[in-house]
Amino acid sequence: MKAAELDAADPLATYRDRFVGAESDLVYFDGNSLGRPLVATAERVREFVEHEWGGRLIRGWDEQWYELPLTLGDRIARTCLGAAPGQTFVGDSTTVILYKLMRTAVDGAGPGRDEIVVDDDNFPTDRYLVEGVAAERGLTVRWVEVDRASGVTEDQLAAVVGPRTALVTLSHVAYRSAHVADGAALTRVAHDAGAPVLWDLSHSVGSVPVELDAWGADYAAGCTYKYLNGGPGSPAFGYVAERHHGLTQPIQGWMGHADPFLMGPGYTPAPSVRRFISGTPPITGMLGLADMVDLLEEVGIDAVREKSRRLTAYAVDLADELLAPLGVVVASPRDPEQRGGHVTLLHPRMREVVATLWEEDVIPDYREPDGLRIGLSPLSTSFAEVERGLARIAELLA
Ligand SMILES: Cc1ncc(COP(=O)(O)O)c(C=O)c1O
Repeated sequence: MKAAELDAADPLATYRDRFVGAESDLVYFDGNSLGRPLVATAERVREFVEHEWGGRLIRGWDEQWYELPLTLGDRIARTCLGAAPGQTFVGDSTTVILYKLMRTAVDGAGPGRDEIVVDDDNFPTDRYLVEGVAAERGLTVRWVEVDRASGVTEDQLAAVVGPRTALVTLSHVAYRSAHVADGAALTRVAHDAGAPVLWDLSHSVGSVPVELDAWGADYAAGCTYKYLNGGPGSPAFGYVAERHHGLTQPIQGWMGHADPFLMGPGYTPAPSVRRFISGTPPITGMLGLADMVDLLEEVGIDAVREKSRRLTAYAVDLADELLAPLGVVVASPRDPEQRGGHVTLLHPRMREVVATLWEEDVIPDYREPDGLRIGLSPLSTSFAEVERGLARIAELLA
């Protein structure tokens, strides 16, 4: 089918108009790095400055900001994470939340558990943090070497976990290939060895449904500036299963205290998931993300995932037709069930191709080695954009 027919048949096509810039001819393939802003967010920010911040001033904290990291966390949990309320918070950067949860997990692991398991294709920040936490706590890193196209398998994980495992840390959707890990099965393998799992959901949340409670996941974190359209540097979310709320995290700040305004002499962590918060929450950074959660609640994550599957399938079909004859290799899974929201295409000239495309308002991104990544935001990307973008890549390579 042609792109115009696919757009005409798309039940979610009209949602594209809710995003800034939808009317332009620009081809945006980087919603998996930085989602487009919602039109509603411009009004929300103005309203916030004039009334909530400008009018309520410091009273805003009592009226709603103090609770916002937890109320918004619960809404992300319900809409995208398959998690019951009271386990999710919004706060620092993804990196800082991952650090806090890694330290929480390894410090809470039983005696003799002195290894962290991570795969060598995990996102750089996750790998670097694992190395740092291991050095800090005298632990050993157990690397799983993975085939980038298929991610960590159950057998691979089963081979490295055991009575010494303090933590397994994995990404749900791989940042390079978009391979979707089997969250339930891998969590089970870790639990069979008595080890908790920390999931990085940065490339899943808002695009691929997640069932943290059903998986029995222990910890999770993820970005909100990708498919949650929170804007550059919007704060990340963290999830800690209720059964771990007795553990303590390493950045013991006053906002995680049981009674912050008591200003007491020592640190007593809040009895809830609030204890994983550290300092003053970045309220202004939560505005755009709250709008996107509203939209996801309206549309439903399953419908979003269905559109995502169709968009990536169309991109793969066009890559096979137009780009394979030019030597391009599809580096993402071909099975749509195993493929997240982006598609990676390999060719030795992709770095220069991406540089030229950016000058022409066709915006994918480049990931080493040789990878052009096409991030397809289900609610803001049209099939016509996919067609125009891939046709231009073909012209440049020809
Ligand atoms: C999978 C994954 N994890 C972590 C991060 C890092 O997040 P931050 O820079 O917000 O700390 C990213 C950023 O793109 C990511 O893609």
